[in-house]
Amino acid sequence: MNYEESSSFVRLTDSEFDFIVKFVSERYGIDLSQKRRLIEARLAGELKANGFSSYAQYIDLLKSNPASDKVDNFINKITTNYSYFNREMEHYDFLMNTIIPSLAQAKKSSIRIWSAGCSTGEEPYNIAMAIDSALGLKRNLWSVSINATDVSTRALTVAKKAEYPESELSGMPEAWRKNYMTKLPNGNYQVKDNIRNTVSFSKFNLMDPFPHRLYDVIFCRNVMIYFKQHTSQAIVKKFYQSTAEGGYLLIGHSETISRTADNQYKYIRPSIYQKVSK
Ligand SMILES: C[S@@+](CC[C@H](N)C(=O)[O-])C[C@H]1O[C@@H](n2cnc3c(N)ncnc32)[C@H](O)[C@@H]1O
Repeated sequence: MNYEESSSFVRLTDSEFDFIVKFVSERYGIDLSQKRRLIEARLAGELKANGFSSYAQYIDLLKSNPASDKVDNFINKITTNYSYFNREMEHYDFLMNTIIPSLAQAKKSSIRIWSAGCSTGEEPYNIAMAIDSALGLKRNLWSVSINATDVSTRALTVAKKAEYPESELSGMPEAWRKNYMTKLPNGNYQVKDNIRNTVSFSKFNLMDPFPHRLYDVIFCRNVMIYFKQHTSQAIVKKFYQSTAEGGYLLIGHSETISRTADNQYKYIRPSIYQKVSK
């Protein structure tokens, strides 16, 4: 059904629409100012589940329970969690062919990665696969940590289960499918334990202050595309502070960031930036 043409959804009044746009933008960074019909379509089920006939009731619920599972359900509906295996493969190639060799050359044997906005897990699992395949027999000599975070608890539940339909694996190199995925009796594929154990998932909102931790590589791909520019800039500033000297920020191919006083990332090539302040 084309939701744009459907008349069955409860319509938002102007003030209800304004409230939701402001609430989502201030709390989560996501800009919904041009997405009125999308909000109506995505929240129709929530209205029904709560037995509400108007958005006014739903908004009261959000206002009176700002840290509740109701707000989790709301953000689960509002976020776009589209992701797939081996998306923008050039980043995994860069990790395998440039980042890991340069760390090895510097006599390092550890790597810390943050997959920020990891959605349903394909990205952090791909990162773990790329590292495993780059290190080969030396993998056991390395300490590899991949923190994968998202604001959507629904996406994180799918990610932790690590089970995907075969159709999702179409872009995965045959060797990775063979080495890192197991076919289940139901026909789906599950990520193998050695890869799963490398990734830790947690809920984190990029609008919140970042933990004091430094990463060698931060992946934040196809996330800030939903934010207004000033919001992205504030988040890139925090990424810069969380990047180790010589470390990288990788963003989606259709995204760009500009250098400011707060972020001195050096442009390496489209969608790849490096912190080189010395
Ligand atoms: C389109 S997915 C991108 C997934 C993956 N990085 C990729 O490129 O395939 C965007 C993800 O960003 C998450 N997201 C949006 N706003 C966020 C925020 N404020 N904090 C954390 N995650 C957020 C969404 O929940 C969604 O799962």
